[in-house]
Amino acid sequence: MATLRIPYENRTIAAREEVRAYLAGIGIDYERWEPAHQVAAGAPAEEILAAYAPEIERLKTQGGYVTADVIDVHAQTPGLEVMLNKFNSEHWHDEDEVRFIIEGRGLFHVHPQESAVVAIEVEAGDLIRVPRGTWHWFDLCPDRRIRAIRLFQNPAGWTPNYTASGVDKNYQPVCLGPTYIPPRVSLS
Ligand SMILES: [Fe+2]
Repeated sequence: MATLRIPYENRTIAAREEVRAYLAGIGIDYERWEPAHQVAAGAPAEEILAAYAPEIERLKTQGGYVTADVIDVHAQTPGLEVMLNKFNSEHWHDEDEVRFIIEGRGLFHVHPQESAVVAIEVEAGDLIRVPRGTWHWFDLCPDRRIRAIRLFQNPAGWTPNYTASGVDKNYQPVCLGPTYIPPRVSLS
């Protein structure tokens, strides 16, 4: 279940319908797919795509996506930092960014043109669609683990266009999930 934070307002939203409604208000689609299909940990990508074929077909019909794959990264993935550094600066794409999380978690920051930056922490069972042209950036959480279905309108065109605004530098990639360690508070 995704958690939404609005740092500028020091506000956190965890109730599903509130999260969905807030995100809808800034143009981000969010769904929970429950019950998720049973797929064994470490199952091959083909098995995941087959299990979720009905949902994938629905999204393809709705959004004009033509292909789907499974991205699978973990702390030992070769070149992980280089890959992450491509996406942790503010950017936008010519294509929608659609992710259904199978395992692990991740943190999207979205920078709407008319309202405050929001941080959306997604985990297994969450679907997020960041429409083309939306300014955003992405970080993994400290456990460096995510496995997700991706959908593409045109995989050849899916590259980041950087805004170079520097706004992303104002936000810490703080995940609130199981690995969250709160900062030490001095009582003196
Ligand atoms: Fe992106």
